[in-house]
Amino acid sequence: MNLTKSLNRNTYRTKDPIIMTYNIILFPGDGIGPEVISQVERIIKFFNTRFNKAQFAIETELAGGAALDVHGVPITNAAIDKAQRADAILFGAVGDSKWDDISFELRPEAGLLRLRKDLDLFANLRPAICYPALATASSLQPSLVEGLDILIVRELTGGTYFSQPKEIVTLQNGQKRAVDTTSYTTFEISRIVKIAFNLAAKRYKKVHSVEKRNVMMTGVLWHEVISELHQTYAENIELKHILADSCVMQLVRQPKQFDVIVCDNLFGDILSDAAAMLTGSVGMLSSASLGTNISGIERPRALYEPVHGTAPDIANQDKANPIAAVASFAMALRYSFGLVREAELVEKSISNVLDQGYRTIDIMQDKMCKVGTNEMGQKIVKELETIANY
Ligand code: IPM
Ligand code: MG
Repeated sequence: MNLTKSLNRNTYRTKDPIIMTYNIILFPGDGIGPEVISQVERIIKFFNTRFNKAQFAIETELAGGAALDVHGVPITNAAIDKAQRADAILFGAVGDSKWDDISFELRPEAGLLRLRKDLDLFANLRPAICYPALATASSLQPSLVEGLDILIVRELTGGTYFSQPKEIVTLQNGQKRAVDTTSYTTFEISRIVKIAFNLAAKRYKKVHSVEKRNVMMTGVLWHEVISELHQTYAENIELKHILADSCVMQLVRQPKQFDVIVCDNLFGDILSDAAAMLTGSVGMLSSASLGTNISGIERPRALYEPVHGTAPDIANQDKANPIAAVASFAMALRYSFGLVREAELVEKSISNVLDQGYRTIDIMQDKMCKVGTNEMGQKIVKELETIANY
């Protein structure tokens, strides 16, 4: 136990060892966000009751449309301050057409984007893993997706999402002209590429670098920076360059050829939704958005969220699949708290529950047992209780 580290934290001593208390901020957001985050709370409660090495103190804050309705902004400065100090953030989802009339700067998504930018959460990890029981739920043939294990590493704080100018101007002839800028610096590219190489080194040692250097200057620089870094930093990793359009095509043609995919912010958004469907449903994909280390502590700033959106059509009907949110908490256990065994226990519980035949509506198959959001959460906790053996 590293005492210097724990002295800075909110700790208390029972008999021994020292129990760490980690502060987690929950941002359930809109639509199905609150429902899936409730299931994460069940898992947290399980660890708080049964696990004797760490405790999780949770606080809930508004984001997205929920914050707009109460505070008139998609996230408050106070919530951002809390998020800056938290050990980890768990986010649900934000957005709905009911806030379509709001100005662009105040739209619900702006709350999430501000969190990503203000906390410098530049490294977005989106694993696309096909659980064995779901190989037949994918829109592709089972043989193409069985055992699929891809990690998309998406740059999250630059590119088209944040570059300036970003505006709509009215021209003299009365026409309007919209501008989105895509810019990347060497620094921004190299820091995300290094993360991709480091992660590939712990996996199957292959990186596909995605860009559009045939059309975009950011693609030209991206290609140059990663090629140089490959030689100086990661010679033992197999590096392949692939154009973004071709990558989407290959993802649905032969997905198992990929190990780590590294790409810019916009391509990552698109590729990760495509990859999600390979795993059976977008309701299965978790993600971690990591920043630089919190000063004085080895842990990075981090936000964990399911890749799926708010699904307003099924909100408040106990239909949403909570697996992506629960798997996102497993990522928090692994990347923020170093609790690798606990992360694996959560992942194994999800896998076992699927093996037992329980399915939410998005992954429902013949002869399986349909369950709602709550029941799926309960099943996962029950399985945890069985296999954790605390
Ligand atoms: C995602 C989402 C977000 C994005 C939206 C909600 C702003 O689609 O995390 O993939 O575009 O990044
Ligand atoms: Mg997206």
